[in-house]
Amino acid sequence: MTNKNYKTLVVSDVDEGVQLVRLNRPEALNALTTGLLAELSKVMDAAEASDDIRVVVLTGSAKAFAAGADINEMAERDLVGMLNDPRQQYWQRITRFPKPIIAAVNGYCLGGGCELAMHADILIAGSDAQFGQPEINLGIMPGAGGTQRLLKAVGKSLTMQMVLTGQPIQARQAKEAGLISEITQPELTVSRALAIGKVIASKGSLAVRLAKEAILKGMDTDLATGLRFERYAFTVLAGTQDREEGIAAFKEKRRPHFIGR
Ligand code: CAA
Repeated sequence: MTNKNYKTLVVSDVDEGVQLVRLNRPEALNALTTGLLAELSKVMDAAEASDDIRVVVLTGSAKAFAAGADINEMAERDLVGMLNDPRQQYWQRITRFPKPIIAAVNGYCLGGGCELAMHADILIAGSDAQFGQPEINLGIMPGAGGTQRLLKAVGKSLTMQMVLTGQPIQARQAKEAGLISEITQPELTVSRALAIGKVIASKGSLAVRLAKEAILKGMDTDLATGLRFERYAFTVLAGTQDREEGIAAFKEKRRPHFIGR
């Protein structure tokens, strides 16, 4: 079953705690219009509010995860239009999403598409995927986190090379560089992402949430601050029923049943 209320997304029913969201603008290789990002923000609002949704899997089509910002739409925006760009709030919405996001990438993952994939917490890709920041070919540069998130993921040299040449890298190099964690056969990328999502969804949601926050904290802070945050988060979890249940289940040699409290 899918939700038909979106023009540019296909949102599946939640399955074992995982919601699959498919970008759906086949006519433009899933290029990201403002409308698409607005719809994605709405999905994120609903997913954050829902106790049933523990993990979101984001994917595109076999040919393209997304080929970037919609260039036709972008061409119509002048400097003032850019300064007032509503897209920024939609990107921030995704950044703020507290539950895990998994990107299942096939085909082109370029420009804003690559930046969207890098908003995910876990990236896996089909062997045919290619990742790139080709904005330089348009006389511009990445503007939705590309220079910063790519740098953190793959380091300076490869980021410089990708951003300054505009040339993409293939899935294998993306894996070697640490941009993605797994390569699958293209037809298995989404099912593998859903399977990873279901494993995460079976864990205690408070622990998942705080672990995600601690890892992201480590991306943009010094080690001492990150370690302090980790210690506080670890300590907070000592007050949860899920911790009691996890430890009891271990002792009783059974599977834990977490309730998110
Ligand atoms: N915006 C709008 N339309 C796009 C698009 C984009 N980013 N990428 C592809 N399309 C459209 C094409 O115009 C084409 O439409 P028509 O059939 O109406 O002509 C359709 O999608 C299919 O594309 P192609 O015919 O070009 O397909 P291809 O297989 O020959 O090439 C491609 C694929 C190499 C990805 C090529 O489409 C391409 O280079 N796309 C642009 C990639 C790009 O520059 N992305 C960065 C955008 S800027 C950005 O992302 C900035 C930011 O976020 C801040």
